[in-house]
Amino acid sequence: MEFKLTEEQEMIRQTARHFAQTELLPGVIERDEKQSFPQELIARMGELGFFGLMVSPQYGGGGMDTISYVLLMEELSKVDASASVIVSVQNSLVNWGIETYGTEDQKQRYLPRLARGELIGAFCLSEPEAGSDATQQRTTAQRRGDYYILNGTKNWITNAGRAGIYLVMAQTDPSLGSRGISAFIVEREWEGVIVGKKEDKLGIRGSDTHTMIFNDVKVPIENRIGAEGFGFKFAMKTLDGGRIGIAAQALGIASGAYEWALRYSMQRQAFGVPIAKHQAIAAKLARMATEIEAARLLCLRAASAKDRNQPYSLLASLAKLYASRTAVWTTSEAIQIHGGYGYVKEYHVERLFRDAKITEIYEGTSEVQRIVISRAIGRGEKFLLTS
Ligand code: CAA
Repeated sequence: MEFKLTEEQEMIRQTARHFAQTELLPGVIERDEKQSFPQELIARMGELGFFGLMVSPQYGGGGMDTISYVLLMEELSKVDASASVIVSVQNSLVNWGIETYGTEDQKQRYLPRLARGELIGAFCLSEPEAGSDATQQRTTAQRRGDYYILNGTKNWITNAGRAGIYLVMAQTDPSLGSRGISAFIVEREWEGVIVGKKEDKLGIRGSDTHTMIFNDVKVPIENRIGAEGFGFKFAMKTLDGGRIGIAAQALGIASGAYEWALRYSMQRQAFGVPIAKHQAIAAKLARMATEIEAARLLCLRAASAKDRNQPYSLLASLAKLYASRTAVWTTSEAIQIHGGYGYVKEYHVERLFRDAKITEIYEGTSEVQRIVISRAIGRGEKFLLTS
């Protein structure tokens, strides 16, 4: 076991850090306030290869590994978790889902544009009555010859406002429960695809989240991903990788808050010395650094398992559960260290505090991660390095 990054991994980390500090940081407070994310920044991230990081070069991607993806996510999230969730949904849900389970025709049609960031994708699983219990899909896709007719409503869809394609899970045979769900690639321009209400959110306000309505949408059979009935497993397998991305987002939010708190506590004087010299503050910083490093190792361990084609569902849930808790706790401590300054927008930690919370909710709540972990323990699955 060697804790060392390759040259390529180090390069993506430096590129992402430089971009985040010089191009994301300047407008981040305004984007949060206005709930917007400009197309120019999307285009820049496309130029830098962030949208196709793990896509194979044959489809126009960077062909990089999941460790590199974790590094990218951490650096972007330190500064702007809205930017990082746009990148995360694209890479680990949309691109990976299509590249791993799509047909050659689907890969050729969609991946090159997704990899360049010219086309943005969204992942439509959650519904008003199907959040954590994702098997309870009400959206239906009824086969009519060479087409399916898609009807239903999806909730809390990240990227929905700017997406050109949607990966949609729908019931094709309700009598089969989770084995009756299928997955489809749906294009925004098709008749009956309606981008609904935009949510006014607590955090990640730069990223857009909408309801999506599918109203008698004709979906050609060649846009089904995998066999009929494979949709639930498709969603679960895709979310396993997505959870590594969100764990890395949580890690980045925590480490960003820690860096602001450390800088502030070295500069801010109280009782004649920088506050970092006071034991109460020093102890907070020490614990923050410990929690963050533990979260980082869990993220990298899950990513490494994925890169080595080892099972990673459980490791992804461990990483997400721990890193998201670390993000919520660390950002709160960062505000505490800043005192009143931490409670206002200018000092960045209040935004990171608001952004942190979603990492305990999307791509499976913390309660869902505990279900995944406890079931694996129940099955006697081995996951500790020592076992
Ligand atoms: N990989 C492969 N197959 C899996 C799997 C996995 N990780 N997890 C479950 N399955 C399979 C099971 O083996 C089972 O298959 P069989 O029918 O062949 O036996 C089938 O799927 C059903 O599995 P379960 O009985 O375990 O399903 P469950 O109803 O008990 O649910 C759950 C399990 C883990 C709670 C799951 O429902 C879940 O993950 N829920 C959370 C959903 C979620 O994460 N939503 C996020 C929305 S997307 C999002 O947030 C993106 C965004 O915008 C940022």
